[in-house]
Amino acid sequence: MTGVKIVGVGHHVPERIVDNHELETWFDTSDEWIASRTGMKRRHWTSENESTGDLAFAAARNALEHAKLGPNDVDAYIVCTVYPDYLFPATAALVAARLGAVDKAAFDIEIACSGFIYGLTVASALVRSGVYRRVMLIGAETLSKLVNTEDRGTAILFGDGAGCVILEASERDSFLASDLGSDGSRPELLLVEAGGSRSPIDETKIAQKKHRIHMEGREVFKFAVTKMIAATDRALEKAQLTKADVDLLIPHQANKRIIDSAMKYLNMPPEKCVVNIHEYGNTSAASIPIALSEAVAQGRIHPGNTIVFVGFGGGLSWGAVVWQWQ
Ligand code: ACO
Repeated sequence: MTGVKIVGVGHHVPERIVDNHELETWFDTSDEWIASRTGMKRRHWTSENESTGDLAFAAARNALEHAKLGPNDVDAYIVCTVYPDYLFPATAALVAARLGAVDKAAFDIEIACSGFIYGLTVASALVRSGVYRRVMLIGAETLSKLVNTEDRGTAILFGDGAGCVILEASERDSFLASDLGSDGSRPELLLVEAGGSRSPIDETKIAQKKHRIHMEGREVFKFAVTKMIAATDRALEKAQLTKADVDLLIPHQANKRIIDSAMKYLNMPPEKCVVNIHEYGNTSAASIPIALSEAVAQGRIHPGNTIVFVGFGGGLSWGAVVWQWQ
């Protein structure tokens, strides 16, 4: 076994901004309601011709530049997304080819908003086991293309973007522990019903908006707070650390009230938490790597810092990773 560290980060969001005031013109809502219930003020949405792969490519290029590496220095490419460019091939393969990587491993991971947490665990395992020396992990989403723009309960929440990390083998180990979980017994709480093999898409389902995101917001809210706390506690326990050892928490950005409740129960001060939800909304698997990339750029992370990444989402699914920055 070897260790693993992050040697490059990057992110990219589309230019188009959809602010709360624009949403006021779509349905019965208000800037005040959205900001106070979710913490969101704006989100970035792709244009019609922009895809998940386009955002992933731009974030990857930024991360390669940050790491001072070329595309062929990376051995494996992973994209975490619920909305790939195509059902197949994998978006990771498209991104790798577009970057100029030749003959590299490339695959996608789909576990909704928990994608980056699962991906970080898998990618770290590939490096720590010696299978690959460098792995690129991208969280990229275009959920604006999946929301029902007539549903005020979901259309306000989601934004598009991509975040990327490059992992590299290292003598010291940044990966201290991971705790992952899922409960697939109630998919109806958060799902896109039509478009898969259980319910192939047809005109009736399109008319009923079954190809768009459906969410039981209140139920998901309760689950999210509970699981964020439990996953953080368990991952810290596995790492033989306590909450007092944590320098920074980088949570999935789904709702500021969810983050605040979790921080309160974890007894952690707000300044130990990275929050950018006001600018991007919920970018699903992209939210944690975007927040990390911004925190690095802002000089908020220093060698030796203990970071907890924690997320939850469709599945239902959840997880936390404890990471020591080097
Ligand atoms: N503007 C104004 N009113 C609204 C809006 C809106 N945009 N949306 C809902 N309301 C109304 C409802 O219709 C309801 O009205 P009623 O009482 O007359 O029926 C009222 O506000 C309260 O609705 P709730 O759903 O109880 O509102 P809540 O405070 O729970 O906030 C929200 C809704 C923001 C969706 C919240 O439940 C939430 O954030 N849930 C978690 C979402 C989440 O984390 N999703 C993760 C997705 S991750 C993934 O994998 C994709």
